[in-house]
Order: sequence, then structure tokens, then C-alpha cells
Amino acid sequence: MTINKICITTLASAAIIGCATSVQAKNFDKLIFNPDIAKQASLTMPSGETVDYTAYEGIFYVTNVEDSVYQTLNIYVPETLRANNSTPIFLRTYIGGYMATTAKAPSASDATGRALKEGYVVCIPGSRGANSTITRDGKTVYTGTAPNGLLDLKAAIRYLRYNNDLIPGDAERIIIDGTSAGGAMSALVGSTGDRHEYDKYLKKMGAAPTSDKVFASVCYCPITDLNHADMEYEWLYGCTNTGVRHLNADQIIISNELAAECPDYINSLNLKDGNGNAITADNYKDYLKTFLIASAHKALEEGCEIPDTIGIIRYAEKPNFGGRPAAPGNSDGRGAPSFGPAGMQPRFNNNTDYVTGIDLDKYLSYVASVTPLKTPPAFDQYGVLIDTPTPETNVFGNPEGTPANFTDFSLRHRLHDNNATLSKEMVQRVFIMNPMNFISENASSVAPHWFIRHGAKDRDTSFLVPINLATKLKNSGYDVNFFLPWNRPHSGDYNLDDLFNWIDSVTK
Ligand code: DHB
Repeated sequence: MTINKICITTLASAAIIGCATSVQAKNFDKLIFNPDIAKQASLTMPSGETVDYTAYEGIFYVTNVEDSVYQTLNIYVPETLRANNSTPIFLRTYIGGYMATTAKAPSASDATGRALKEGYVVCIPGSRGANSTITRDGKTVYTGTAPNGLLDLKAAIRYLRYNNDLIPGDAERIIIDGTSAGGAMSALVGSTGDRHEYDKYLKKMGAAPTSDKVFASVCYCPITDLNHADMEYEWLYGCTNTGVRHLNADQIIISNELAAECPDYINSLNLKDGNGNAITADNYKDYLKTFLIASAHKALEEGCEIPDTIGIIRYAEKPNFGGRPAAPGNSDGRGAPSFGPAGMQPRFNNNTDYVTGIDLDKYLSYVASVTPLKTPPAFDQYGVLIDTPTPETNVFGNPEGTPANFTDFSLRHRLHDNNATLSKEMVQRVFIMNPMNFISENASSVAPHWFIRHGAKDRDTSFLVPINLATKLKNSGYDVNFFLPWNRPHSGDYNLDDLFNWIDSVTK
């Protein structure tokens, strides 16, 4: 790090702060990157290859640290840095279950190790979550209720950008990656860059006074669109209620009530398919089928045996409809299937079968038979039929640690009051935790590039959730690479060749 660079950044910081008082400017001095904390380390990849890197760890990314366990980030710079100042920064969040996570070191077994090996700068921030607590005035205070985990990620991104001249890599080219609740956070970070709705919170935290936009968002099985996820789950999986799901009479009532709310929501999205045709509740299942068919078809092509019993309809010869079904959304069919257990044996005649259809109810029953479905309501469950909180009711809880409902539906059921409504404050918290609210055409707050994956047998949320996210982004003009990888359960950071080929292609 040259002295020259440090001076430039100090000047740049002063310029950003502009007319702020000198007290404030001094305050943000705490956020100037200190290269002297560098340590050398190395990672041995599964191939045996060693990746040497410089580590900068335990960096506080806000001035008003509330939770010193979690509000830090780590930065890793590989010796084989691609191109110094223009190198993209791969930012991995380890948020899972909407819980807190500490800043971590890169792992040879996930995308962080691979990113280092590929020569990218890696940042792994910690963040507060549903289970993080501090003691204040002798009382336990929950620090990570929504939207705090998201705010921490935004503050970490601001830190990187604030120090762009000091930290190797290019903070204008941040690629955020997360899985499940982390995938939801990735979608939120990717869709809400610099949105004013978060300003007051970030200011209070002492986040660096700069932009929190990102260049690309990688979302594995995002557990998102939380305030519609219950209805989307029941609308899709209701067909299994009296079969493999074994719901009791009370649960079936809740399931049906929720499912009945879904068509209006689907129609309100005004989505369009790849040909510009309107997607409505009436044709949505056909739209969903195109993604599942593309997934099954690619699996067959790549040598996967698909049992005849799970609803995939195929012909052993090319059907006479003018060619194979095209992979929807993303016709290059990226997203190699996983060749998992359970009857998935290599085929010998893999290029002779063509998937022509899917019996959706049968396929959904198969998915539910692999991993039992959640019971209704799948997400905002607290106080409706059972009192058990979910990760979602916890993250929308209060600082005392009491879970909270985040939909009118569940609140009304819990209180047995048909007129109950969420507080204004809760409505706002739910709003700023849903990326669907921020996606529109030409929005500078939305990342230009998206990589979204949801396993074809992942039942942690309805297929509607990732499909709606991907479709809304695509309809709004963003670059979206979306696929439902075959035989893949709820998981992330898989098929890393695909991911890193994609990263290569969007950052070239
Ligand atoms: C996660 C999984 C869930 O099923 C859920 O409801 C919330 C979070 C997770 O793995 O992060």
C-alpha cells in the first residue's frame, strides 16, 4: 500500500463528507482501512492446490458498534490477484435461518475458496441476526431483528466503497453471494442499493457516508417475499394436503384460506413470460412447468436417470413438435444438475429422451415425499394453530426477543380478531425486507446482474418465490441467469464452475 494511496483516500473521504462538521469527519476516520493489520495465510483446495493470500480481519464497519461480536468484516486478497484495482470483490454472507453470523475466513469447500483461487478479492462480513444479543442496563437486548442484518451488510459494502482506494479490488464491482436467508439478503442488497428507506438507520449506526449499491447478486434458494410466502406455499402444495402431507382438518382450513389469497397476488405482479405473454394465476402453473421441464430435460441430457414415477413425461424419441423444448428464461440452460442419490444413475442413451411434459401434482407429491413440507402457515406460523416461532417470526420480533407476526393473516388468527392489522412500524419493516418492492425498470438501486438458483426438489419455500423474483427482474430489464437445478434440495454454492463462468462473463 503506497503512502500516496492513503493520502488520496483521506482527501476523497473529506470530499465525500463535504460540509459535515469536523467532529463527524473525525468520527468517520475510524472507518479508514488500516493495511498494517495484514497477515499472510494460505488455503489448500480440494485439488491439493495451495492459494496464498493476505488477510485483514476483525474490521469494524460502523462507527457506532452495537454488537462487537458480529459487526466486523474480513477481507482476503489472493497473491494471484487478477488485475489489482479493477478486480471484482466477492462478498459472501453466511447468514442462515435469519440468524447472526460472525465474519469468517474463506473455506476451500465453498465459493469463497474458489473466488480466492480465481484471483478475486473476498470479503466475508459478520452481521446481526434473530439470535444476537447484548446486555444493556442489566437486560438482554436482541440486536438483530429486521432490518438490522440487512443494514449490517449495507454498512459493510459502504465500508469497502469508502476505502476503495486503499483496499485492493474494485468496490464498484461487488458480487454478493448468499444462500437461503442469506440468498434473501443477497436479493435485498442487490435490489435496494442507496434506497432512502434505509438512510435513517444507516446514519444512526455510523455507516460510511457513501453508496451501498452492488454490481451483481448471487441468490441461492432465497427465502424471500416473506409476506406472500405463506400463500404461495399453500397455493402450490395444497394438492398434497390430503395425500403425502397428511394435514389435519384445522390445517387444511388454514391452507385453503391462504391459497385463496394467492391468485390476486400473482395477478398483481403483472409478470410476462419470455414471449411477452401475461402470466396470471390461470396460466402460472404452465409457466412453472416450463422451468421444471427445462431442468429435467437438461438432467437427461447430462446423463441423469429420472424415475418414471415422479411425474416427468418423456418420449424416447424426438417428439414431432419442431424440436426440443427450449430452456425457458435462460436458453443456454446453465446450471448443471446435481447427480444425487435416489435412483439417479447414469444413462447410456442420454441424448435420446425428451421431456415433453410434467404431471405437476405428481411431481409436487414427489418433492413433498423427499422432505416433508412445512405445515401451514409455513413462515408466519407463530400463534396460528401452534405457538412455535419460525426464523421469520423471530427476525420480525422485538428487542426483548418476543417473536412477531408479519402478516395480517397470521396476526388475525393469533388474536382471533378479524379486524386486527399490523402496526405501521411493522408494515414498514416488512416492506423494507422484501426485494420485490424495489424492482422496477431503470432503477439505479438495482444491481445490473443476477444469478438465481433454486433446487428442483427444494421445498423450503414455494417455487413461486424464486420464479417471481427472477421474472420481475428480467421483465424490468436486468441481466438474469436463472435455473432450477435438477434433483437439488435446499442448498447453496454448488456447481461452482457455472457460477464462476458466469462471474467471468459479467465482469469481463
Ligand atoms: C432458512 C431456511 C428456511 O426454511 C427458512 O424458513 C428460513 C431460513 C435458511 O436455511 O436460511
